Amino acid sequence: MAHIINDISRTFNEYLLIPGLTKKTCNPDQVSLKTPLVKFNKGQSPDIELNIPFVSAIMQSVSDSKMAIALAQNGGLSFIFGSQSIEDQSEMVRKVKKFKAGFVVSDANLTPEHTLRDVIELKGKTGFSTVGITNDGTSNGVLLGLVTSRDYRPNKDPMDKKIKEFMTPFSKLVTGKLGVSLNEANDIIWDHKLNTLPIIDENQKLRFFVFRKDYDNHNENPNELLDSHKRLIVGAGINTRDYKERIPALVEAGVDVLCIDSSDGFSEWQKETIKFVREKYGEKVKIGAGNVVDKDGFLYLAEAGADFVKIGIGGGSICITREQKGIGRGQATAVIEVAEARDEYFKKTGVYVPICSDGGIVQDYHMVLALAMGADFIMMGRYFARFDESPTKKIIINGNYVKEYWGEGSNRARNWQRYDMGGSSLLKFEEGVDSYVPYAGKLKDNLDITLGKIKSTMCSCGTTTIPDLKENAKITLVSSTSIIEGGAHDVILKETK
Ligand code: IMP
Repeated sequence: MAHIINDISRTFNEYLLIPGLTKKTCNPDQVSLKTPLVKFNKGQSPDIELNIPFVSAIMQSVSDSKMAIALAQNGGLSFIFGSQSIEDQSEMVRKVKKFKAGFVVSDANLTPEHTLRDVIELKGKTGFSTVGITNDGTSNGVLLGLVTSRDYRPNKDPMDKKIKEFMTPFSKLVTGKLGVSLNEANDIIWDHKLNTLPIIDENQKLRFFVFRKDYDNHNENPNELLDSHKRLIVGAGINTRDYKERIPALVEAGVDVLCIDSSDGFSEWQKETIKFVREKYGEKVKIGAGNVVDKDGFLYLAEAGADFVKIGIGGGSICITREQKGIGRGQATAVIEVAEARDEYFKKTGVYVPICSDGGIVQDYHMVLALAMGADFIMMGRYFARFDESPTKKIIINGNYVKEYWGEGSNRARNWQRYDMGGSSLLKFEEGVDSYVPYAGKLKDNLDITLGKIKSTMCSCGTTTIPDLKENAKITLVSSTSIIEGGAHDVILKETK
């Protein structure tokens, strides 16, 4: 007979936290949100720790290089979506690894033999008025000069005038050497009254520009998530089909951590993928797996060698897996059971395998609940899709700004590998929808508010660290009537403008 679990599976909405003693020393400034990303042995620290417990979802509409840069600058991590070509995904990873705040890779370049017409066409296409002139017209060629709008008169100079006749030649340029700090670059800009400082390497090859206009954006990010070479840390999603080609390309591009992206990760395909990584790279390449919703799924992937395990089936805001396939579990129940399994596994083996709660976060307090229930970090799609940094279009609907947000299992993304059950043909029925989410502005502004709330709730629980929250939080179930009590009720709300 089938094994029937009679306990109801529950969502975050059905729980609340009960305050613990808040000591005088416990205030939001004291709260640390550091948390492990990958497995570690008892008494040791993990090779990668997040500075905030957030990662962005492995989705076309959420995690490209722009999101990855913004989130890592703020202490979290993005998994660049895998439903694109290996080359394109590797290029996105490379872009994040090469990123240095304030140092911009030149996107508009020509050779001295090009003409004024080419400059004007390029400006029309890219919008950039500073053009790097290199020997081969690439962004990393030998720097021979610079063209800005001060070097030509568009309506007076002949269009076929060669760039070499009007560019500012290299001999007259002030340049910075590769390796200068942003502060030093800014000092050179100020001392020489420049608008642009080209940064070159020892072979005179152009590497970056530093622009005066970006000066205000050059503030330090104290939370930045950096590797040992001070480069931003980035993750990437992979699948269990083309991993033998995709993983080496991503590793070559400098990826820090991989995650097998699947709606149902309790599978031999995932075990094989992890095995491939261990045989080829040992423990050097980090790989998470999932998604699972119970102890059995967790143990299977932990024993297969996963660096972390992701939890969640059917709870994502754009997800229709439960309707389509009838598989899944309330996210809160899934996290609680897997967290218990993780703790038991740690006791038994001395290996701590972090777990990630993926999908279904609606309110900011759901994040604290997920952590209190035992998640080490949280993956979100909808939350991040609303920001300027997500890859999708911002449009106006009924007078309100919205951003597009679509599931990986929707017809739009066509990421059928994510839902693959093996066999010769990939399944082709939708498990996700195409939707809009309210536009919410800059990632950092929203994150500051969310993190402020999380820290404040943690102080109410009398705790200043995530491990302590997991250990000591008191969590209660709520009835449906007490959910009504929790909002504004029995008053006539004033209309807000
Ligand atoms: P959200 O934060 O509630 O929007 O959920 C995001 C999560 O939903 C992702 O991290 C995935 O685990 C999951 N997901 C993404 N696309 C789909 C889909 O098309 N169908 C089902 N689940 C999806």
